[in-house]
Amino acid sequence: MIKQTTAKQIIVLGTGGTIAGKSASATDNVDYKASEVGVETLLAAIPALADSNGKASYAGCELVCEQVAQVDSKDMTFEIWQVLLARCTHWLAQPQVQGIVITHGTDTLEETAFFLHSVLETNKPVVLTCAMRPSTAVAPDGPQNLLDALAAASSEQINTGLSGVVVVCASTIHSAVDVQKVHNYRLDAFSSGDAGVLGYVKEGKLVIYRNLEVNMPVAGINTAYSAINNIAILKQLPRVEIVLNHSGATGDMVLDLLAQRSVASVNKLAGIVVAATGNGTISQALERALQSAEAAGVVVWRSSRCAFGTLVGKADVQFGDSGGLTPVKARIALTLQLELLK
Ligand code: SIN
Repeated sequence: MIKQTTAKQIIVLGTGGTIAGKSASATDNVDYKASEVGVETLLAAIPALADSNGKASYAGCELVCEQVAQVDSKDMTFEIWQVLLARCTHWLAQPQVQGIVITHGTDTLEETAFFLHSVLETNKPVVLTCAMRPSTAVAPDGPQNLLDALAAASSEQINTGLSGVVVVCASTIHSAVDVQKVHNYRLDAFSSGDAGVLGYVKEGKLVIYRNLEVNMPVAGINTAYSAINNIAILKQLPRVEIVLNHSGATGDMVLDLLAQRSVASVNKLAGIVVAATGNGTISQALERALQSAEAAGVVVWRSSRCAFGTLVGKADVQFGDSGGLTPVKARIALTLQLELLK
């Protein structure tokens, strides 16, 4: 007979990153190998999570671990996103599941968070967390970040408080739309820019200042990507590249991409996001190359390489406006949009 689970559960999905990293010396926070320690071991290393039977639990919720991947997040792939999405969809549909925590590398965490935010429809919290120091460090930040993420995932405020995909790092709760990594070393490595953080985790309690609506539309961009109900079986998403404007930008990279595209038989370039300077400016040479790309059928979106702010002024008539998304998030939005429009 199959035993029905009635206990509340929080699901902890491991994907790797520095939080799961190991270094040869406890005082070395830089020269380590990411993605070495399994998610179950990470939880077992936090004594506060052991219940009276020695099982991992948090606030009365059983913790259920799954190792979805074990990668440095610079090597995160669409295939891993597909598995992650499938596991999130599976678990979120279970009534006993309060929320999900995903452990992830910091380097591309904002991209996975934005992807999941764009395609998952849920009122339950899905909380990505990470660490800047490896698990072997004298003072690792991962255990506290994990505890804070569990507090967010076990939030009872599902309808009035926290819901949807968020990021917890250094006691701070960020929305998947606004969060970006802004520092390469500090433990508090993330910022939500002008939009501001969603709130904080203080001693296991959430202080929420604003909430994120599930699938909150990004200005000018269709984010009903959950309509792509076959993401799980897609071989790949349309190919979109990011091109940076800078002093002396020639546009040669775009022309090279177009040349490759003309001979490619699979995964042809479908879109380009230009990380423009300032308020969306592009050198004349790069602009001409991007016009050629558009003329060849490549969709071009303009974003800004500035850390903060959204493009201000007239709606872009020449190239698509990335709706205030950073270049890396605009790339994801454009791939999903192109897939949706197929
Ligand atoms: C990674 O992104 O996987 C490595 C770096 C980090 O987690 O801080």
